[in-house]
Amino acid sequence: MAIVFDEKSKVFFLTTSNTEYQMKINEYGMLLHTYYGSPVGKTDMSFLIKEVDRGFSGNTYEGRNRRGVSPDTLPLEYGTYGAGDFRVNAVGVILDNGSRTLDLRYKSHVVIEGKNELENLPYVRGEKDSVSTLEIILEDKTALIEASLIYSVFDKKDIITRSVVIKNVSDNPIRLTKAASMSVDLLHKKMDLIHFHGRHAMERQHERVSLTHDIHVVGSKRGTSSHHNNPFVILCDHDATENHGECYGFMLMYSGNHAEEIEVDQAGSIRVVSGIGSEGFSWLLNKNDSFVTPEVIMAYTDGGLNELSYLYHRIILENICPKEFRDVKRPVLINNWEGTYFSFNEKSILEIIDAAHDAGIEMFVLDDGWFGKRDDDNSGLGDWFVNDKKLPGGIKSIADHADSLGMKFGLWFEPEMVNEDSDLFRNHPDWALRDPDRAPVMGRNQLVLDMSRKEVVDYIYESMTKVIDSAKLSYIKWDYNRSMANIYSNALPADRQGETAHRFMLGTYDLLSRIRKNYPHIMIEGCSGGGGRFDAGMLFYSPQIWCSDNSEAINRLKIQKGTGYGYPISTMGAHVSASPNHQNGRVVPFRTRAIVAMSGTFGYELDPRKLTNDEKDEIKKEISIFNRYYDLIQRGRYYRISDEETEKYFTSWQFVSMDKKEALLSLVVTDVRANPEIPYVKLCGLDPYGEYEIDNIFSSVDDVPAEAGIMLKEEKVKATYSGNALMNGGLALDPLYGVYPSVQIHLKKV
Ligand code: DGJ
Repeated sequence: MAIVFDEKSKVFFLTTSNTEYQMKINEYGMLLHTYYGSPVGKTDMSFLIKEVDRGFSGNTYEGRNRRGVSPDTLPLEYGTYGAGDFRVNAVGVILDNGSRTLDLRYKSHVVIEGKNELENLPYVRGEKDSVSTLEIILEDKTALIEASLIYSVFDKKDIITRSVVIKNVSDNPIRLTKAASMSVDLLHKKMDLIHFHGRHAMERQHERVSLTHDIHVVGSKRGTSSHHNNPFVILCDHDATENHGECYGFMLMYSGNHAEEIEVDQAGSIRVVSGIGSEGFSWLLNKNDSFVTPEVIMAYTDGGLNELSYLYHRIILENICPKEFRDVKRPVLINNWEGTYFSFNEKSILEIIDAAHDAGIEMFVLDDGWFGKRDDDNSGLGDWFVNDKKLPGGIKSIADHADSLGMKFGLWFEPEMVNEDSDLFRNHPDWALRDPDRAPVMGRNQLVLDMSRKEVVDYIYESMTKVIDSAKLSYIKWDYNRSMANIYSNALPADRQGETAHRFMLGTYDLLSRIRKNYPHIMIEGCSGGGGRFDAGMLFYSPQIWCSDNSEAINRLKIQKGTGYGYPISTMGAHVSASPNHQNGRVVPFRTRAIVAMSGTFGYELDPRKLTNDEKDEIKKEISIFNRYYDLIQRGRYYRISDEETEKYFTSWQFVSMDKKEALLSLVVTDVRANPEIPYVKLCGLDPYGEYEIDNIFSSVDDVPAEAGIMLKEEKVKATYSGNALMNGGLALDPLYGVYPSVQIHLKKV
């Protein structure tokens, strides 16, 4: 049983194969968090809580003579405002009489097999036999508010998800000002925080800081999960490495405003609160209304960061991404954006398809510019009908041409946006989010549609499906290209404006669900100016997301590595683009660009008409290598090999098949040196007693002088190595010279 309640001790035990999570109802009905970590055999861990009378940490009225029992120092499972807990709270309310105090105590609980869907929100899918769910109802008997804390335990996957339903059971309206999805207090821990910050074209940069006595907030109020702060944080031991040490992960499954608040309190405990960002948020709950929060996915391991990543990769692949695309080989695509930008017509697109076909590419994606009056980014968004000046044969003739060559076809949309210069805006100016009397903040000269309105979602759905139905489509790229500002819905009353941002997300999720439901064979690739909405919420609808508008391989090493801490390789849109690169001007060898893009969905983003025959042959070779290792890369286990220190010299990473019969090591030298150190790489995850041989080497240095790549010459690498030797001693590569040289080594068990 993954969920057990012990009546005598009043302890809830949530157990997975390698973790245990405990909560205890104390004598005052408060729900305490007593443990999360490696299994302790269902020992009641509340003995770790010491009653210490701390000045200015007051007591509940009934416990006023027991000064060591304070809501401010106890580890709580869902902290509230106003009832004596002065740390970061999980929930905020304003009652009808203006009071802001909320004091939640245990009311009841229930355990069910399986897991319910979350109303209108993405959720971690659970099969009956793999998950069980605990719902604990807390109540405030004065305010007449209930909070149901919901825990789903994926025991074989070492994952626990949490969400909360807040219900107004009073006769009066109440206003929610904050509704986090989870809160947890970790006693006596001294930890580092790892989070993933960034900016457009430089998303998810890994940053590790030692926690100090303050409140660290990772969040976004841009209306999306954002390029700037991903809704995924890790807490780990100071000395945790990729392969050792305690790590906790908290990933919010949501694509809108969010906040992850981490506080080290006066006594050194760590509180983590994660959920919808409360800045600008409020939600009116009338009698019997409920508010459902998004889910948080929690994971724990004492086996280091690679293991933590594996836990997230597995749950996302198996329980979040749409199952239709889980086990099928996805086509290697070419996207015309960096090849043509807005300058294309039917003739040039057909030529591009022909040239891409010659190079062995499997799908063509027509990006921005095919619709409305869209010759640049100042007009046309919202008018989802074909621009027949550019494409007289419509989308159909392009899709048919691709089809006639045996290629699949995909199309770009930016459904949630509108340009002022569009028929849609001229007809429905109130459909954009904006203050009625104020000039709006612009972003890429476009406005955000009010997706909180059903008529807007209906209209966009209808216009998208007309295009989808007009041609044979296998793929949609779903873009979103600005931050939200002036978050004001012309359809909501004044006292509900604080609901707009979340209602927007519910509208977007509704539109995504409708497209998924009615076109299950069409794969959606998420995108928001690259990776501005790279989160588990979007992955529920789209099994891959364009990782960044920065397609340059050396910058991509960091972007993809940062992304990979939480998200699987098969979710990361990655393409080979032209050199010099359009975003930063860097020149990188073709093969290095390919080796980096292969650690993602793999595709091309360039003008294939400009390729020489040799380059087309090279692409054919790259595609055949990628397809050969497709299962290993997309379904194998991924390990980061190099650490922050090594990365000043090179970056390396590795895949191992689940049966450990093969492995693929990739390495890119980012700082080429004269008279260099030897690049030593210790492999991970192999069968310790298996014997491995190098089966194939694919490298950018094939054409450098012999002395530059001795290790890379096949005749020198006929030896076999034990898994133990490769994991404990490692491989010693001969130095790589040249411009951003790279190597990909395939090992096979003999
Ligand atoms: C931003 C995307 O990330 C790009 O790939 C491209 O689709 C442009 N938008 C088109 O406007």
